[in-house]
Amino acid sequence: MSLANKNILLGVSGGIAAYKSAELVRELVRAHAKVRVVMTHSAKKFVTPLTFQALSDNSVLSDEFEQAEATNGMDHIALARWADVVLIAPASANTIAKLTHGGADDLLSTTCLVTHAPIALAPAMNQAMWSNSATQDNVETLQKRGFLFFGPASGQQACGDIGEGRMFEPHQLLLSLSNLFNTGELTDVNVMVTAGPTQEPIDPVRYISNRSSGRMGFAIAEAAYDAGANVHLISGPVALAKPQGVEYASVKTAQDMFDAVQANIKIQQIFISCAAVADYRPVAKQPNKIKKLHDDLSVTLVRNPDIITEVAKQSNKPFVVGFAAETQELEKFALHKLERKRLDMIAGNDVSENEIGFDNEENALEVYWPGGHCSLERDTKTKIARRLISLIAQRYANTHKRSNVTILKNAKDRSQNTR
Ligand code: C5P
Repeated sequence: MSLANKNILLGVSGGIAAYKSAELVRELVRAHAKVRVVMTHSAKKFVTPLTFQALSDNSVLSDEFEQAEATNGMDHIALARWADVVLIAPASANTIAKLTHGGADDLLSTTCLVTHAPIALAPAMNQAMWSNSATQDNVETLQKRGFLFFGPASGQQACGDIGEGRMFEPHQLLLSLSNLFNTGELTDVNVMVTAGPTQEPIDPVRYISNRSSGRMGFAIAEAAYDAGANVHLISGPVALAKPQGVEYASVKTAQDMFDAVQANIKIQQIFISCAAVADYRPVAKQPNKIKKLHDDLSVTLVRNPDIITEVAKQSNKPFVVGFAAETQELEKFALHKLERKRLDMIAGNDVSENEIGFDNEENALEVYWPGGHCSLERDTKTKIARRLISLIAQRYANTHKRSNVTILKNAKDRSQNTR
């Protein structure tokens, strides 16, 4: 599973194992995760913030009241929302005790009280501290509340003792973290996603296009991959890196996209059409650059093929999900498209607001299917994509009457965004 683009908030509390967390940050960055580090005061006695700052390429935070410029505007609320997962490694006996009792006297403990993200703890302490019934009671309480424990391992300890209390090694923590994102909701399902705009050439240097950045489609492809799908992503021209683990085709025009979709659609079980396909193209591309010889100029446009409609018409069609980018009457137009294009689901987004939707980091979706509706409230495109994939997995499982109950359970858990 991929940790690429996952927001990992690493809490470092006081313990000699903190030096291993420096290696962990390095591994996370290598895996293309986004890492922010929060240190407790005692952690700074073991490793300097500068080490983590250099490795994570982000300022390291400790206090709730650090100056805004030092924290890049990330207070505890912003950090808590930003995180996909909080990992505290090493988690000291004191930090475990503090979390058990809801203490909030530094940035790490405060953030843990605010976040809805899963919190994982990698305990590291002397074996006697770990086996002490106070610590064990705290661990039990936290587990009941949904906190995850990665380790500890047994073996030789820094103090010379032998026993349980060693922090998991960085590679074990990396694996445990990436397993968290493996929902298994679409294991071995073939999913095709279209993304980005298309470019319809007028002449060799000019084209008609739109403001789609491709970010939503790429996030959906990543989320489908994390859910275990075999993903085929077909994208128009975008300035994004190809997501890891997916089959990728880059196209320019709507006709190219149509051809690329048709070439592989037969083996797909789910088709998600997120691309902002140009509805029209110039009737012919001029062979040479058009000169400004006249006061006005007309370009005749003709209709492009409607890719999703052609897919939905097929016998033995996949589960088809469309997008409706609207500037008005979202529900009416989305429902109309759902019916007219004979889709299984449609995700409507309001592109009239400037801050969300097209060419933005955030989005909000109103998702409709025959007889149902769900609002995915404003969030980053990555998080919206995960919730949408959960919803699609649920609907797909329902319509295909798949008996795998874990698929349904996971989908439900994730769409409710519970810890
Ligand atoms: O009809 P409208 O373009 O608003 O429908 C949007 C949906 O149709 C999106 O899912 C988009 O990807 C898809 N579409 C398509 N081919 C087109 C135009 C739109 O697949 N030529």
